[in-house]
Amino acid sequence: MSSVKFYKSEEQVPMEMHKVRVVQKLYLLPVEERLKRIKEAGNNTFLLQNKDVFMDMITDSGVNAMSDNQVAAMSIADDSYAGSETFNRLIKAIEEVFGTKYFLPTHQGRACENILAETFVKPGMFTIMNFHFTTTKAHITRMGGSVIEMVTPEGIEPQNDVPFKGNFDIPRLKQTIKELGAKNIAFVRIEAGTNLIGGQPVSLQNMLEVAEICKENGILSVLDASLLQDNLYFMKTREAMCKDMSIKDIMHKLASVMDIVYFSARKLSFARGGAIISNNEELILKMKGFIPLYEGFLTYGGMEVRSMEAMAVGLMETLDMEYISQGPQFIQYLVDELDKYGVPMIKPAGGLGAHVNAGEILPHIPHDQSPAAALATAIYIAGGVRGMERGTLSEQRNPDGTEKFAELELVRLAVPRRVFTLSQIKYCADRVKWVYDNRDLIGGLKWEDEPSVLRFFFGRLQPIGDWQEKLAAKYRADFGDSL
Ligand code: F0G
Repeated sequence: MSSVKFYKSEEQVPMEMHKVRVVQKLYLLPVEERLKRIKEAGNNTFLLQNKDVFMDMITDSGVNAMSDNQVAAMSIADDSYAGSETFNRLIKAIEEVFGTKYFLPTHQGRACENILAETFVKPGMFTIMNFHFTTTKAHITRMGGSVIEMVTPEGIEPQNDVPFKGNFDIPRLKQTIKELGAKNIAFVRIEAGTNLIGGQPVSLQNMLEVAEICKENGILSVLDASLLQDNLYFMKTREAMCKDMSIKDIMHKLASVMDIVYFSARKLSFARGGAIISNNEELILKMKGFIPLYEGFLTYGGMEVRSMEAMAVGLMETLDMEYISQGPQFIQYLVDELDKYGVPMIKPAGGLGAHVNAGEILPHIPHDQSPAAALATAIYIAGGVRGMERGTLSEQRNPDGTEKFAELELVRLAVPRRVFTLSQIKYCADRVKWVYDNRDLIGGLKWEDEPSVLRFFFGRLQPIGDWQEKLAAKYRADFGDSL
C-alpha cells in the first residue's frame, strides 16, 4: 500500500488496494434537521439513528467492510450444533495465525472479559494494565477487583511523538508487583492498540518484557488483541526488531509468551464474535464451563456460524500487510489534515481512528460539563459526522459517587476498515476545521439521565444554554444552501 507513489500529485495520499463492490446509500440531512436529531438523541451520539448520520465514525467495531472471500465463506457455514465444520475451519485459522492449541468461542470481546473476570478476579484483587478499557474495567469492578493503570507518562501527553505510547512503564510495573504482592494480582493485561488513549500501539519489545516479568513472578499474563491488527502495522513500520519478522511471526511470538490471548472479532478479523485462546490447557479448563453457561455450546459460543466463517477468513487477511495498512494510513491522513490546520489532535496518529483533543479545543468548558461530548454534538451538527465521546463520560464514577475526571477529553472519529473513500475523509476533516474555527460558540452539557453502568452508551444530556442553535445558525450563514 505505502509503496504506491504518485507521479504528479502535490501530496502523497493513501491508496485503497481494494475496490468497492457493494454500496450503501448515505443521506446528509440539512443542518436544521441535524440539530433536531441530536437533541432528540439526548446529545448522546450513541442514541442517534443511523438514517440521520452521514459518516458513521462512532466505532470500527463490527462495521468494517468484508472482503469477497469473507462473504463467499459465509455461504458455506455449517450450523450443526455439535461437530460443526465451521468450528473446525475457525480453529484451524486460529492455529495458523496465532499458533495456539486451545480456543474458547464467545459472542464478542466483552464476553471474554466477563469470563476472565469471573474466573480469575476475587474481591480485593488487583489487575494491572497499560490502560483500562470501559467494558474490561466494568467486569473487573463487578467482581470486586480493581484496575491499576501503568502506561508510560508519555502515553497520556497528547502531542508527545514517541512511537509506542501504549507501552507499559516497566520499572513501575516491577515496583507495583513488589508492593502489592504477586498473589494479590489477578492478572496483568496488555491492551494492544490502547483504545482510550487514542489507539496508541505497544511495542513488541515492551509486550515481551511484560510477559517475562509476569512469568518471573508467577502472575497470569493476558493480551487483549482486539486492536492488534493496527498494532501489528505499527510494529512492522516503527520497530526495528519487527523489520525481518512476518506478521505471522509476530503473532506467533506473542501468543507463545502470553498465558491467555482474547479478542473481539468485531475488530480483529473484520467480522463479529470473540475468542479466548491459549496454549495452557489448565487455564482453558478453568474457563471452559462458563462458555455453555453464558455464551452457547463450545462449537459456537454465541456466535452466528456465518460470522465464524467470516472470522476465519478475516484472521488470515490480517496477515496481509496491504489489508492491515488501510486503517492506519487513512487515520494518519485525517490526523495530518487536521494537525496542519492547527486542530489539537492526539499525535502521532494511532490506530482505530483520529482523536480530537476536546480538552484543549474547549478550555472554556468546565471539566464537569463534558467538553468532549459537547464537541461530539458540534461535529454532528456541522457535518452529520457521528464520532464518540472518549473522556469523563466514558469513565465510571468513583465508588463514593464522585466524578472520575478522565486524563484526556477526546472525541474519537473511528475509521472503519475499507468503508470510507478518501473524499469522505476529506469532507470529515473540512467540517471539523469549521467546528474548530467556531469553537468559541460551543458550550457545555449537563446530565438529564445518568445510568449507573456504562453510562456513555445510553445516558441523556442537555445543552447548557442555546449554543447549539447559535452554532447551527452560524453554519447556515457560512455555508449558504449547502447541506
Ligand atoms: N477490548 C478493546 C480494546 C476494545 O476496544 C473493545 C471494544 C473490547 C475489548 C470489547 O469488545 O465490543 O466485542 O465486546 N471496543 C469497541 C469500541 C466497543 O468501539 O472501541 P466487544
